Amino acid sequence: MANEGMPDGENRQHGIDATGIDAEEWAELMVNLEATIPAYDKVNTIVTLGQDARWRRHVQSFATAGMDVLEVGCGPGTFSEGLVGVNLTCLDPSREMLAVAKKRVNAGRKARKEEDAIYVEATAESIPLQDNSFDRVFCLFSFRDFHDKKAGLTEILRVLKPGGRLVICDAGKGRFPHGLMGRIWMGTVVQLVARMVTKDPNHPWKWLAK
Ligand SMILES: C[S@@+](CC[C@H](N)C(=O)[O-])C[C@H]1O[C@@H](n2cnc3c(N)ncnc32)[C@H](O)[C@@H]1O
Repeated sequence: MANEGMPDGENRQHGIDATGIDAEEWAELMVNLEATIPAYDKVNTIVTLGQDARWRRHVQSFATAGMDVLEVGCGPGTFSEGLVGVNLTCLDPSREMLAVAKKRVNAGRKARKEEDAIYVEATAESIPLQDNSFDRVFCLFSFRDFHDKKAGLTEILRVLKPGGRLVICDAGKGRFPHGLMGRIWMGTVVQLVARMVTKDPNHPWKWLAK
């Protein structure tokens, strides 16, 4: 990890928490993430003012036709459905997320006469796939959810082919004001939008704001 060897406090200041999440919190996180599924895309699009689609397209541009590609933490398939012409594997620990992704991603692939993607129910920390298998590994808005980031990165490196690349797209805390603005945005605008979209005062973004 980039922050290895830094004093403890430093680990938490740069980019993203470097270590992980404890088992109990991670289980709670997964319940809340699954609860976002019906409103996931709509809330993301509104709270990023439409920028999420641009970020995804940018990450997609790191893959070219014919590549072996793995998305780690594919969620409901929002990113993977836009990957064209690649041999695709989608991995997520949530069966529910994978079921939604499978429908959505395979529909697009079928229309383009591409083979179905492969769907793997697993975590980044324990990837049941062979060494040196992928030209690209993509991680969008899921790296922050790894319960053990060092183990996840080690596994990703293992499955990447020599010269392959990992591309992570996530929200970090680059500087103190950046982190503060993020917390304010998450605690206000995101809460309001999630409540309006879900029409539920106990929507999952309430917990996720933590
Ligand atoms: C916010 S969603 C991101 C979905 C998608 N990548 C996107 O671009 O919108 C985060 C996903 O990470 C998954 N996740 C959580 N912990 C994970 C872990 N340890 N390893 C792999 N994926 C994980 C969750 O199940 C969830 O589907």
